[in-house]
Amino acid sequence: MSGKLAILGGEKTRNKPWPPFPVLGEEEKKAVLEVLDEGRLSYFIASVGKDFLGGKKIQELEQLFCKYHNVKYAVSFNSATAALHAAIVACTVKPGEEVITTPYTFTSTATSAFMHNAVPVFVDIKPDTCNIDPVKIKKQISPLSRAIIPVHLFGNPADMDEIMEIAEDNDLKVIEDCAQAPGAKYKNKYVGTIGDCGIFSLTENKNITSGEGGILITNDEEIADISRLIRNHGEAVVAGQKKRTYKSTILGWNYRMTEIDAAVGVEQFKKMDSFNNVRIKLSEYLSKNLQDIDWLEPPTVYDGNKHVYYVYHMFYNKEKTGIDRSSFLEALNAEGIPFAGGYVKPLYYNPIFHENKPFIFKHYKGNATYEPGMCPVAEKCHFEKLILTPVPRPTANEADMEDVVSAIIKIDENLYSLKNKNPSNVLVKS
Ligand SMILES: Cc1ncc(COP(=O)(O)O)c(C=O)c1O
Repeated sequence: MSGKLAILGGEKTRNKPWPPFPVLGEEEKKAVLEVLDEGRLSYFIASVGKDFLGGKKIQELEQLFCKYHNVKYAVSFNSATAALHAAIVACTVKPGEEVITTPYTFTSTATSAFMHNAVPVFVDIKPDTCNIDPVKIKKQISPLSRAIIPVHLFGNPADMDEIMEIAEDNDLKVIEDCAQAPGAKYKNKYVGTIGDCGIFSLTENKNITSGEGGILITNDEEIADISRLIRNHGEAVVAGQKKRTYKSTILGWNYRMTEIDAAVGVEQFKKMDSFNNVRIKLSEYLSKNLQDIDWLEPPTVYDGNKHVYYVYHMFYNKEKTGIDRSSFLEALNAEGIPFAGGYVKPLYYNPIFHENKPFIFKHYKGNATYEPGMCPVAEKCHFEKLILTPVPRPTANEADMEDVVSAIIKIDENLYSLKNKNPSNVLVKS
């Protein structure tokens, strides 16, 4: 027996803080100083830059992404949101057309469609991986459908074979949202290389960071070209003219990454596989050492796939404990173990989808709806089952994971007293 629960006045399982994140080393510092010593923070100007392609660090980062993924083009942005917006334009989605995606993702996977006056259509997720359910995609295809954005949620690859087959049959483009999954593999192929393009996030809490940043990868020259224009006010430098001339061809933004961000990104990218290996090792440690807890289900990883565990999640079974998820999480947090209930509310709950509808809805001719209850699997997952934690990541170690395991075993051994703490919990006998 492992003692009284902290929430009932016992000793906490863990008192010390969790390792700081992100993990930045001497290499990142040196690279940033190199940029400062050189004195140029952005080369994206016509008089010095080569056709708006950015400076040394930007191009080095893009080359690293190309080489690693064995793709022809990588285009850097100042966020994955910017990269998603550019991808939607570059995949020739037109205003008023539909982009199919999951509601169980970060906001901008879907709102990037609104940025181009396109309309997100939500398809429910699979209960085992929380990724978009290909079977349900088919039912949502309409004459206005133009693209699918599968998300490799939490670092676990979506079902790309099925998604690509549907896309091919219906002439849809595929934009892989790999923001949470750099280095993940679907059947031995890196995510981001299977669809028409893939986008990655380098924001601070991701597997690797440049502070803020995003990268789009593709083998499609046109997607790469349009993406570069979108990031650069829609302007190109017209080659072959004596005096360089700006040429604005399409609507663009300033989505450019700075040399300092890219310098950090380059050094982080070099560490990506070793960072991911730590995440995988620690996450697998949790799954293995919690396998006897029959009211918690570890993440499902399909054979042949590589999950890179941006966060570690489990499914909580209230029917087996007789205790609400929130009471369980309160007890776990009191033990010093940070777990949250659910990820983000299914996106159609956001007011922008029903109260403050974007401009496009005045002109939209399709049938997309955003009603509570429309994706029941995502709702059950979010409101009842999913729990997640960021702790299996560098520079944590197995001793840190042992604290997570001990705290959960402690709760398992004290389920009866936890249930009695809150009389509204009713123990269901199995
Ligand atoms: C699945 C997903 N897509 C897109 C984004 C957007 O990334 P960024 O913050 O770099 O714009 C994120 C980041 O949180 C994400 O998790």
